[in-house]
Amino acid sequence: MKLSIPHIDIQDIKSIDKVLKSGWISTSSKSINIFEKKISNLCETKYSVALNSGTSAIHLGLKILGVDKNTEVIVPSLTFIATVNPIIYLGAKPIIFDVDENHNLKIQDVINFLKKNTIFKNKKTINKKTNKTIKVIIVTHMWGRSCNFYNLKKICKKRNISILEDAAEAVGSYIKKVKYQHCGSIGDIGCLSFNANKIITTGSGGAIITNNRTFYEKAQFLANQAKNDSFNYIHNECGYNYKMNGISAALGISQLTKLKKKINLRKKIHQRYLFNFKNSKNIKILPYDPKYRTNYWINIIFFKNFSLKKIYNLSLFLLKKKIETRRIWRPVHLQNHIKRFQNFKIVNAEKFYNSCLCLPSEDNLSNSDVDKICNYIKKFYEISNNNKL
Ligand SMILES: Cc1ncc(COP(=O)(O)O)c(C=O)c1O
Repeated sequence: MKLSIPHIDIQDIKSIDKVLKSGWISTSSKSINIFEKKISNLCETKYSVALNSGTSAIHLGLKILGVDKNTEVIVPSLTFIATVNPIIYLGAKPIIFDVDENHNLKIQDVINFLKKNTIFKNKKTINKKTNKTIKVIIVTHMWGRSCNFYNLKKICKKRNISILEDAAEAVGSYIKKVKYQHCGSIGDIGCLSFNANKIITTGSGGAIITNNRTFYEKAQFLANQAKNDSFNYIHNECGYNYKMNGISAALGISQLTKLKKKINLRKKIHQRYLFNFKNSKNIKILPYDPKYRTNYWINIIFFKNFSLKKIYNLSLFLLKKKIETRRIWRPVHLQNHIKRFQNFKIVNAEKFYNSCLCLPSEDNLSNSDVDKICNYIKKFYEISNNNKL
């Protein structure tokens, strides 16, 4: 039983087959324009740019928002390394913050930091400690859980700070203020991932979504080698080979038609996990907030009074039963190439890292599969901890 695997059906194969037979398989394929339109429709943004990964989307997005070696970017600690590496590619510095109980950026900490630790001068927010400009805040929607950052957005507008939403894990998840808005569509630029482990996939792939025409045009330009004159091969600046190819886009078009169904399947799996641990004091499933429409991408279990060593042994025990589990993301401020950067009051990220596991959540799990997984976990917990659930 797997964490999250792609499900490719006959409709997906037919869609790819059509593009293969047409010969339009490169980054000039018409299927890419179709996929981009469908992504814009889903997310209700004016524009989208299909790219070869979510990481490329974050890199391009930060570049377009003006991140360079003289600037700093605020990021949460508990995230996949691809959220923060693009800051390093651009020679900028991350400032790392803690996460809340949903594993999302702790918005109030960022607001407090902006108020107490920065000054606003010449339309720039300057970090008092480093004298550098804070250019962008990256808000993540971890595990497909919508991060409510409307308050922060208001402050960022006044402070001339852009918001890039890392919605890599949140295709099909929404935030609500007045009406539902797709994650990634609220900030200046949103980044999606269609990697094979995501709720829908293009093999590998990603997208930028935005309502800003200048950002959109710049993203298309830079993603396609920054070509100024295609007859004479003139490139006036450094571009990237970041566009999605036609085969991936064909798969994406077909996968999108199944998104609703996939979310419903994963919702049922999540509800079954909650049901299994509803009476447990020491083991909990991280709930998805029913206030928001979310994609229920992956289930996270957390243990009270259970050492990391025991969690590791549990993971091995489950693996022997062919049940795949994985630790949650290692907090980025603990990574070797990131730990030298400034961080701010991080407590939860490390606590969660040491007490959580990702559980099988792929579409095809039945109620009895989930019950089986939960029974093994309960049994292991009771025996090894000599403790009541
Ligand atoms: C939070 C987060 N950000 C960024 C990425 C990067 O996406 P990709 O793997 O498509 O480059 C991922 C995906 O794995 C992710 O989970």
